[in-house]
Amino acid sequence: MTGAAEIRLVDESATRDFGLRLAAHLKPGDIVLLEGDLGAGKTTLARAVIEALTGEQDAPSPTYTLVQTYELREGGELWHADLYRVEDEHELEELGLEDAFDFAICLIEWPDRLGAMRPNTYLELDIRPEPGEETGARRVRLTGRGQWEGRLDDGLDDIKTRG
Ligand SMILES: Nc1ncnc2c1ncn2[C@@H]1O[C@H](COP(=O)(O)OP(=O)(O)O)[C@@H](O)[C@H]1O
Ligand SMILES: [Mg+2]
Repeated sequence: MTGAAEIRLVDESATRDFGLRLAAHLKPGDIVLLEGDLGAGKTTLARAVIEALTGEQDAPSPTYTLVQTYELREGGELWHADLYRVEDEHELEELGLEDAFDFAICLIEWPDRLGAMRPNTYLELDIRPEPGEETGARRVRLTGRGQWEGRLDDGLDDIKTRG
């Protein structure tokens, strides 16, 4: 394997289910970059992770706040960021996201905005509509960088096989 995997998410509940299973593998300091166009399902997926790890059932989209922070059930923090509206790196610095990379579970939508702040180790989830289908089915491509390459190859089997 090559630090990558692909899973079909047949409908919204499959996406949520994927998020719940992924959540079980995440620990403080983990960074998940959520790639995909508007409406791809990034927030839907993040909400499932947030619910599993914090108990928050109705996590708002951080569209305007840029960041929402949560307390993990097991202690520590989860940060959910939507960087769509970020225009320059000073805004990023003010958010304190780079510090959070060290201690929080970070879920980041529109990570292209990170620029030079993009970390070396992360799990990338690229969500897109299943080509040629109008049913709501999505396909998520998982790519591991840095330490996540090995974690993806040697673990997460429950995620990779039960899409
Ligand atoms: N398989 C699917 N996975 C995720 N969302 C889906 C799926 N099928 C339909 N949807 C719908 O697509 C929309 C995704 O919105 P959202 O998660 O806010 O996207 P994003 O954060 O990527 O802009 C929601 O309205 C959701 O109900
Ligand atoms: Mg979103």
